[in-house]
Amino acid sequence: MIEVNKITKKYGSRSAVEDLSFSVQKGEVVGFLGPNGAGKTTTMKIITGYMVPTSGEVKIDGEDILEDPLKIKKKIGYLPEVPPVYSDMYVEDYLYYVARLKSCPKEKVKSQVDSVVEKVALQEVRRRLIHNISKGFKQRVGLAQALIADPEILILDEPTVGLDPNQVLEIRNLISYLRGQHTIILSTHILSEVQASCDRVIIIKEGRMVTQESLSSLREKQSQSRRRISVRVRNVSDDLIRALRRIRGIEDVSVSQHSVLSLSADADNGGNLNEEVAKKVIEKGAGLVELNESFSLEDVFLKLTSDNEQKR
Ligand SMILES: Nc1ncnc2c1ncn2[C@@H]1O[C@H](COP(=O)(O)OP(=O)(O)OP(=O)(O)O)[C@@H](O)[C@H]1O
Ligand SMILES: [Mg+2]
Repeated sequence: MIEVNKITKKYGSRSAVEDLSFSVQKGEVVGFLGPNGAGKTTTMKIITGYMVPTSGEVKIDGEDILEDPLKIKKKIGYLPEVPPVYSDMYVEDYLYYVARLKSCPKEKVKSQVDSVVEKVALQEVRRRLIHNISKGFKQRVGLAQALIADPEILILDEPTVGLDPNQVLEIRNLISYLRGQHTIILSTHILSEVQASCDRVIIIKEGRMVTQESLSSLREKQSQSRRRISVRVRNVSDDLIRALRRIRGIEDVSVSQHSVLSLSADADNGGNLNEEVAKKVIEKGAGLVELNESFSLEDVFLKLTSDNEQKR
């Protein structure tokens, strides 16, 4: 459905994106990841037709986006890095305006606006000035404008940046809800977001592709490298930390939050490591509250982006 073919974007002599190619199938949710300055925003601007690449092409449903930009723009809902909202407009009026801009027929404007307001839960602020609503609501207004006219494709540039954890969760739920109805590319720094919402991940660095893989194959990679166990206890003590470090296979133990211990372990080391850890915590009377083993995309991400550096 979306084909990105060898795009390069140069700012002066520097490439923000270099020879990048990938494709996205209908209905897929793809996480677009990369450190600051990797070229995510630039790529998204090119896919949405807001920026012209120095070379290369983007096709949507087989058509070059530059051939009929208006037609293509109707197929795409775009949430830019900075939500394109006019602070001195009322939420509702702004959405009416966007609907008209996207050539929504006059008689359908109201039902379209009502439907997105409901989708992104903007009812309580729809008659307020954009200037006066919270950042989370502004972000939702940004999402609402992307969703108006029900586009097949959604391109979301860091949809949860700057939001508090509750708002992040709400946006994440919204994305899960939109899954299946749209083809989605979302960029983010938050790796758990990719784990929560995406089928596949594309990682870029310095404008180039580092990897594109399904989440399950990344998970597999992770399980072949290291395991990460997190234990919440009532009382952290040096004695407990020492005891845990002595367990065979445990490579490191650190206190990550007030009462949470993070353990990293060798993946080859048997299946009952969790049990041994739990036993030790109980034996030391530390009060086991919670124990879980997590797949950390962060590890994979760091590994992939630094491996890449070594290759250069
Ligand atoms: N208008 C511009 N003029 C010159 N250089 C630019 C311009 N816009 C972006 N760049 C450069 O292009 C590179 C890629 O930027 P881009 O904004 O696409 O990265 P990003 O992955 O979205 O980063 P972030 O995670 O910080 O949003 C960066 O090195 C950036 O400094
Ligand atoms: Mg960006």
